[in-house]
Amino acid sequence: MGAYDDVYRRSLADPAGIWGAAAEAVDWVRAPRRILADDAAPMYRWFPDAELNTCANALDRHVAAGRGDAIALIYDSPVTGVVRRFTYAELLDEVARAAGALAGLGVGRGDRVIVYLPMIPEAVVTMLACARLGAVHSVVFGGFAPAELATRVDDARPTVIVSASCGIEPTRLVSYKPMLDAALELATHAPAHCVIVQREQQRCELVAGRDLEWAPLVAAARPTAAVPVAATDPLYILYTSGTTGRPKGIVRDNGGHAVAMTWSMRHIFDIGPGDVMWAASDIGWAVGHSYTVYAPLLAGAATVLYEGKPVGTPDAGAFWRVVAEHGVDVLFTAPTAIRAIKKEDPGCELLAMHDTSGLRALFLAGERLDPATFSWASDALGVPVIDNWWQTETGWPICANPIGLERLPVKAGSPSVPMPGYDVRVLDPAGVEVPAGTEGAICIRLPLPPGTSPTLWPDDDERYVASYLSAFDGYYLTGDGGYVDADGYLYVLGRTDDVINVAGHRLSTGAMEAVLAAHPAVAECAVVGVADSFKGQVPRGLVVVKSGAEITPAVLAAELVALVRSEIGPVAAFKQVDVVAALPKTRSGKILRRTMREIADGRAPGVPSTIEDVAVLDALRPVLRARDGG
Ligand code: COA
Ligand code: AMP
Repeated sequence: MGAYDDVYRRSLADPAGIWGAAAEAVDWVRAPRRILADDAAPMYRWFPDAELNTCANALDRHVAAGRGDAIALIYDSPVTGVVRRFTYAELLDEVARAAGALAGLGVGRGDRVIVYLPMIPEAVVTMLACARLGAVHSVVFGGFAPAELATRVDDARPTVIVSASCGIEPTRLVSYKPMLDAALELATHAPAHCVIVQREQQRCELVAGRDLEWAPLVAAARPTAAVPVAATDPLYILYTSGTTGRPKGIVRDNGGHAVAMTWSMRHIFDIGPGDVMWAASDIGWAVGHSYTVYAPLLAGAATVLYEGKPVGTPDAGAFWRVVAEHGVDVLFTAPTAIRAIKKEDPGCELLAMHDTSGLRALFLAGERLDPATFSWASDALGVPVIDNWWQTETGWPICANPIGLERLPVKAGSPSVPMPGYDVRVLDPAGVEVPAGTEGAICIRLPLPPGTSPTLWPDDDERYVASYLSAFDGYYLTGDGGYVDADGYLYVLGRTDDVINVAGHRLSTGAMEAVLAAHPAVAECAVVGVADSFKGQVPRGLVVVKSGAEITPAVLAAELVALVRSEIGPVAAFKQVDVVAALPKTRSGKILRRTMREIADGRAPGVPSTIEDVAVLDALRPVLRARDGG
């Protein structure tokens, strides 16, 4: 039996055994005596009697072990022309001061801090400073519009918001501060203070009494020690799109997270002290939380924080320049980023200009890895290309090829096999496990391993159960469909709900429909995610106009595109909406979104027997097949 098989089997037979042993790699203030609390099943808690501080594990312990001069954080920003390295000692000093500054503003254990920042060191520092105080951070991605930020402010009710004057996209400055001000106008909750990083590219006005400038505040602050917290205390909330317009507040606890991050960094990614990990994801997403910020630092490695894009900053060789310049051992990004590079440098001329021989593996996640991208990256780099499948909810890979434990054969199109603790099963609609090769709902038998979301914010067990545990008794519903082959390799075919993945960004079509439906001329609408060769999927809208509404289809379409951009944000990439006479429905009134999506994707779906009027669907076929190309 190989190392993977052995650990995987033991993890299911004796979860407390393997995670209890894994917990020994973490520094506890109070070591766990109990590993898994299962008395409130189906709600489980890992390490219920333990105490620790995540920031102390990420920073202080390495400095105390004499590794203060080792590099912890490499900030590489082609959009500003800056490269800055922080040793563990320097990062600890900065974080301890930032924690002091936040504490001075009233932030304490359990209080929330919203982080609305571009990819700058202050973002990492704020996250770790919150962890140091036992406060709960919630990072909001900069590509979201003020209304989305406002929803998160009202849900998380932060004591402080940390933001910046601006972010820098390749073609424009993104004015964060006006968006923050607009969000706070919309929100009912008011934070006590906003702390603003003033960037020289675009400074902003501060609101007297409410806003404070980061640099002088942190410089004047006294360093603060790490506060011990319960392993079950929340470390962060990360909002993610569900099937409705209301985002879900995924909760990450301190203890399970530290154990899972430490274990996965070594056994899945094969990264340890002295190595350089680069997860080129925005810190607003789960990959950024886990593998840009926490896991590399918990492991004592160096992490790269990159403020740039795969292309356009300045060219498609940018990723390879970073890999070469900083000695990156493992790169983690989304398939879309590789597709963007491949499109501009198909023959690898730019790649050849950089010495990437130190790179050991490329990990890809966030969306389906298409075989063409997999082959191109494998050939171009000559290193293992590891597809891994997971979700914000789980915080670390459900399926991967654990190269630190055992390098398994790679199969194109599959994120390989379940990681320890994830008892992955494919179920039919009646909840019966299907045979190998048969499609079904991908589920995970409870309990989930450490590091996965134990509930939804704010301790909303009811919503957690309704969202994930109610479809099949004893199982967590991932929302993805797929199958397992005869060798136990999983194939993920896509979401079975209204969540879509646009350029590796998770979005809700339901949220977009809510925006369209609010337009006074719209009677009915649907948004479906259709296949796109670059972004994986893009949203497409279909609207029926209210009778008597005096607006041309072109004007309405333009208004709706602008509305989604201003209400949800540019990241939605909502560019195409068609005005149609009617939407196809079942006799009970349910819109046939899946059938429309399949037609738009060029497939020939069967016509559902429950359809109300086949003629409506037939009339839509040419509209769905036409692409704006936007
Ligand atoms: N702040 C403000 N705006 C942002 C933003 C941010 N942090 N990130 C993206 N946007 C904007 C973009 O500027 C763009 O605006 P535009 O419509 O004015 O051009 C819009 O949101 C759409 O962005 P995106 O979908 O990222 O497309 P793009 O063409 O700008 O970039 C890629 C394409 C491939 C570079 C980019 O999608 C990418 O890096 N994707 C990987 C995502 C990822 O890492 N996911 C995490 C899982 S690993
Ligand atoms: P997020 O929560 O943003 O990480 O998005 C999670 C969703 O992205 C999953 O439920 C999948 O639909 C999709 N996804 C993530 N990784 C992969 C992958 N490797 N292959 C296929 N789909 C993926």
